[in-house]
Amino acid sequence: MTPQRVLVVIPTYNERDALPPTLARLRAAVPDAHVLVVDDASPDGTGLLADELSADDPVVEVLHRAGKEGLGPAYLAGFRHGLDRRFDVLVEMDADASHRPEQLPRLLEAVERGADLAIGSRWVPGGRVHDWPLPRLLLSRAANTYARLALGLRVRDATAGFRAYRAPLAAQLVEAGPASQGYCFQVDMTRRSARGGAVIREVPIDFDERTEGASKMSSAIVREALVKVTLWGLALRSQQLLTALRYAGRLVSGESSQPSGR
Ligand code: GDD
Ligand code: MN
Repeated sequence: MTPQRVLVVIPTYNERDALPPTLARLRAAVPDAHVLVVDDASPDGTGLLADELSADDPVVEVLHRAGKEGLGPAYLAGFRHGLDRRFDVLVEMDADASHRPEQLPRLLEAVERGADLAIGSRWVPGGRVHDWPLPRLLLSRAANTYARLALGLRVRDATAGFRAYRAPLAAQLVEAGPASQGYCFQVDMTRRSARGGAVIREVPIDFDERTEGASKMSSAIVREALVKVTLWGLALRSQQLLTALRYAGRLVSGESSQPSGR
């Protein structure tokens, strides 16, 4: 089998101290992978620093965006860049080494074995979170439980930010465009992948609390997620209800047919 061409997309916003060590670990752990830093004009100069790192290393590129637009648009722009350059696998990873670069090969193996989407999961057996404060742990558990119930997902870690997408799936998702700015982008991509029949595999990972910089999680991001997941859930349930009603209608009117659609 020909080796897969892998692009690791790393969105950054004020990650000056976090990015260099993460990049060094990534380059050591998966030397063949290319890297694209997507910076939203970080006020702390992360974009300039990334340019310097890129000047020293031909597999590292930087995409500069005009301002802070959120995680979703940054990833979609990075994917578009990677698809244009014909990469086979597009990876999502935080700049802060919360996702261990040394565990990226697990995700790539899952893709090589046939997954369209491999998710580095904190919430499957073997997955772990290290040093997260209790409120953040509870938030992640609650968000995942709600997303699973509302959207009928089987994935245990639908909000995970450590992922590998096979290019055709990434292309479908990019084409559909963004429906979310913040971290619910992750849930949205999971939901759309599952709905489209993609093969999704969860691989256990260790998630480390960052030691440099600060999380960009905010109450606005939580609110967006809550509203959007609820709306997507309602849309899904009303669709299911309509299908059931149509089926019942046909039964009542005496037609004998199978339910169509999903
Ligand atoms: N370009 C860009 N623009 N990058 C951003 C933006 C933005 O608006 N907001 C956040 N980032 C970058 C951060 O710099 C970091 O590299 C990555 O996106 C994730 O942000 P963090 O602030 O480190 O997220 P977290 O560690 O709190 O959250 C993690 O868990 C979430 C929930 O499980 C991430 O893995 C999320 O992706 C995940 O949804
Ligand atoms: Mn992080």
